[in-house]
Amino acid sequence: MSGIAALLLELGHEVTGSDKVSTVETDRLQRRGLCFHEQHRAAAASNADLIVFSSAIKFDNPILVSARDLGKPVVRRAEALAAIMGAKRGILIAGMHGKTTTSAMTAHVLREGGLHPSHYVGAEIPILGTNAHWDSRGQYFVAEGDESDGTLICFHPEHSLILNIEEEHLDFYVDLAAIEKVFARLIEQTSRTVFYNIDDANAARLCAKRKGAISFGFSEKADYRAADIELRNFASVFSVYRQGEQLGEAVLNVPGQHNVQNAVGVIALATELGIPFDKIAASLCKFEHARRRFEIKYESDRFLLVDDYAHHPTEIRATLKTATSIGRKRVLTMFQPHRYSRTKALRNEFGRAFDDADRVIVTEIYPASEAPIPGISGETISNEIAMHGHRGVSYQPRFEWIHRDVGNMLDSGDVVMSLGAGNIHEQLALLAADLVIAEKLRSIVGEQGDVRLYEPLSRHTTLRVGGPAQFWVEPRDESAFAELIRYCSREGLPLFVVGRGSNLLVRDGGIRGVVVHPCGGEFDKIDVNGNEITAGVGAKLKEVAYVGKTAGLGGLEWMEGIPGAVGGGLRMNAGAMGAQTFENVVRVRYLDHDGNPHVKRRDDLDVHYRNFPLLESNFAVSAVFRGQPAPKEEIVRNLKASQQKRRTSQPAAKSAGCIFKNPDSCPAGKLVDELGLKNSRVGKARVSEVHGNFIVNDGGATAADMLELIDKIKGVARAKRGIELETEVQIVGED
Ligand code: EPU
Repeated sequence: MSGIAALLLELGHEVTGSDKVSTVETDRLQRRGLCFHEQHRAAAASNADLIVFSSAIKFDNPILVSARDLGKPVVRRAEALAAIMGAKRGILIAGMHGKTTTSAMTAHVLREGGLHPSHYVGAEIPILGTNAHWDSRGQYFVAEGDESDGTLICFHPEHSLILNIEEEHLDFYVDLAAIEKVFARLIEQTSRTVFYNIDDANAARLCAKRKGAISFGFSEKADYRAADIELRNFASVFSVYRQGEQLGEAVLNVPGQHNVQNAVGVIALATELGIPFDKIAASLCKFEHARRRFEIKYESDRFLLVDDYAHHPTEIRATLKTATSIGRKRVLTMFQPHRYSRTKALRNEFGRAFDDADRVIVTEIYPASEAPIPGISGETISNEIAMHGHRGVSYQPRFEWIHRDVGNMLDSGDVVMSLGAGNIHEQLALLAADLVIAEKLRSIVGEQGDVRLYEPLSRHTTLRVGGPAQFWVEPRDESAFAELIRYCSREGLPLFVVGRGSNLLVRDGGIRGVVVHPCGGEFDKIDVNGNEITAGVGAKLKEVAYVGKTAGLGGLEWMEGIPGAVGGGLRMNAGAMGAQTFENVVRVRYLDHDGNPHVKRRDDLDVHYRNFPLLESNFAVSAVFRGQPAPKEEIVRNLKASQQKRRTSQPAAKSAGCIFKNPDSCPAGKLVDELGLKNSRVGKARVSEVHGNFIVNDGGATAADMLELIDKIKGVARAKRGIELETEVQIVGED
């Protein structure tokens, strides 16, 4: 519709328009004189001489109702376009696939050939400036015809370029015969030459008998033929022959064999209009195609992200073929089916369309204006693909999560494609933006570190629940950690530190921003110096106890019962066997929010039960613990006692340790036990029968299950005992 509005404005008409939403397009048109309303109001019809409407507009739209009441002329978009085209010598590009690119290419070649064509194409084309333009200097008008609603019959062009004909838009047409009828009418109404793709059986059958028709394609029989095609990265080089005679070589900077085929059609038309071949070849070489047609969204040595509008099985096959021809390693595809009717009609064909993709993630259907069809969903397609024998297909019904699934699979050398006519490109854009950040993070942590996108935190928490970390980053030394802190602060990215995840409940939506996991390298080191043990934050707390044993240092045995790392032990002032972390701490080394290092002695630190506030906005790097020289046997005995206590009083199942802090009046475990809540459950989350302060994951529990069970326990403790339980486990992330 924006193209029609633009043309009418350029022709000097007064144009008003309405839509449910304003867009960059409506803003641009407003600057060119459009009077725009973000609402469909009946009053809009009263001052108009003509009302043009899109086929997406319903019959009972207030403007249409009012126009009919007032007896105003009302025409469909295609009828308006056909009328505008009627003022010039029309060239119509028609077919199921590739018409936007081909009509843009035609307009571009004619423009470069000095013919000053006017044009109308179905997308924003950077090289043409706008999707529609009226040039009063030229005679020709190039337009993309829309076959979806039968309106091709409105056109009476001088020339038609027919690209391909097959089953599509079965919400409108009964069958292929009905589609062909419409094309036959267009061919009949074309006053001069019909150009047709001879490699397309249906187009050839319909057009060949037409007098004076000119064929193009790869076939030996084609009037205009492309041969010796060499596909290079994103370009194709090929020779062009006219009736066996070589016209020359052409370079097309748009990938894909199907685009070579369309380009020969454009060459045929332009040659017949009298443009010399070298001029045609020179302009083809400069051609850049439309947005969302193999549009590169991100490119580096490691990854290539490409968006394409492909939504029909034939288009998907062609686009994936192009993606594999680029010669990278794997092709990962996110696909958003378009329309329930197309999904239903072509489900078998969709099942076979993804053979060239290594991995396919299908999300929910983009309905366009359609109502759902019972039993038809994105899963219909993922099932079809799997039934066809593809081993790498999955279904992700949550649209906003699809980029995470693909991002977490990413490996160096991958091509990621977003395919569909809806809004799937938004997901690819999110992935591209995150990749820019991920690559920066990678440069900070260097070769020895690790960066993963959307890493599921269920893999990094002892409870085994939780959504993904947007950026999972493992620095191996203090300077990389400091640089990460500075980078996040500069970029306004939240930064959260996860140790062994033993006291952590991450919500199912995961954690936004950078999740730092200091581990390996100097973070895992434990050194003994006299009675002091220095441990990096990544080391296990129980390791400190065992190193103590080897060095003959006691008083640390209680740490054996803590599953977490030194960092978590500090942050939570973790405790067991009546002892707690800071009873053994001598000094803590940490980085502040500017990444500067500090060392503080125990006496200068503010520490509470299960809380060390300094680490709310600073980041621990290492700590020095003090042990007391003790006989080995005594240490071993204490370690065994701690182990025994843990094994007999705590569950072995997946848990996050104690869920609640012990209230003053009674240990939380005892309270839950007395309240009779052991073994109570929500989903797969269950209160342990061994210890009332543990909630265990019976396999497949969600954070939502866990949180509901926690709330339930708190509610009962409040109601029956008047005790306000406070969680000890850290609850983080988004729903
Ligand atoms: N109890 C019951 N029923 C239960 C659980 C406990 O009656 O289901 C009774 C016990 O018999 C005992 C009392 O409650 O008389 C306290 O229980 P426990 O000795 O197991 O200690 P806790 O206070 O529940 C604390 C730490 C644990 C640590 C143990 C062992 C807290 C919140 N918890 O548990 O730490 O492992 O001592 O020393 O301070 C953790 O913080 O994540 C954690 C597991």
